[in-house]
Amino acid sequence: GKEKELIRGSWESLGKNKVPHGVIMFSRLFELDPALLTLFHYTTNCGSSQDCLSSPEFLEHVTKVMLVIDAAVSHLDDLHTLEDFLLNLGRKHQAVGVNTQSFAMVGESLLYMLQCSLGQGYTAPLRQAWLNMYSIVVAAMSRGWAE
Ligand code: HEM
Repeated sequence: GKEKELIRGSWESLGKNKVPHGVIMFSRLFELDPALLTLFHYTTNCGSSQDCLSSPEFLEHVTKVMLVIDAAVSHLDDLHTLEDFLLNLGRKHQAVGVNTQSFAMVGESLLYMLQCSLGQGYTAPLRQAWLNMYSIVVAAMSRGWAE
């Protein structure tokens, strides 16, 4: 329906530039919760958070996150097919010390990135559509985390 169109339409251009948009997202995340930076063990010898944000390992994680979002957008009609993958992803984050509240903060950062990138295109219905999709992703990751 309408929600899926809003998501697909907005991702069409953003999805072509995953890394820069992902960097905007994670810069926002570390502004909201700087302590999350320390969970990326490979960032421990960074001078500043800006140095960390440009390290290759970090950019790899940014890319991984964007690819998960890309997969969710591609599977809007059958998100349940990602269930096992997302359960496992939640489990992996539990193992590296990320808590489930932090997933919600990534959601806020995602909305921030959409707002920055879409400008006038960032409308209340679009925001809600993304929030709904991201909530489904996080719900599955959180179930895996808690298992
Ligand atoms: C792996 C941290 C959120 C997707 C990892 C790893 C760390 C990490 C430390 C393992 C090392 C690495 O691969 O870089 C975090 C932190 C987050 C976060 C601090 C903030 C809350 C997310 C979210 C997604 C995601 C929201 C996707 C929607 C992935 C993927 C991997 C990964 C796909 C690779 C898993 C594998 O090895 O199979 N994350 N993550 N991460 N993360 Fe995150």
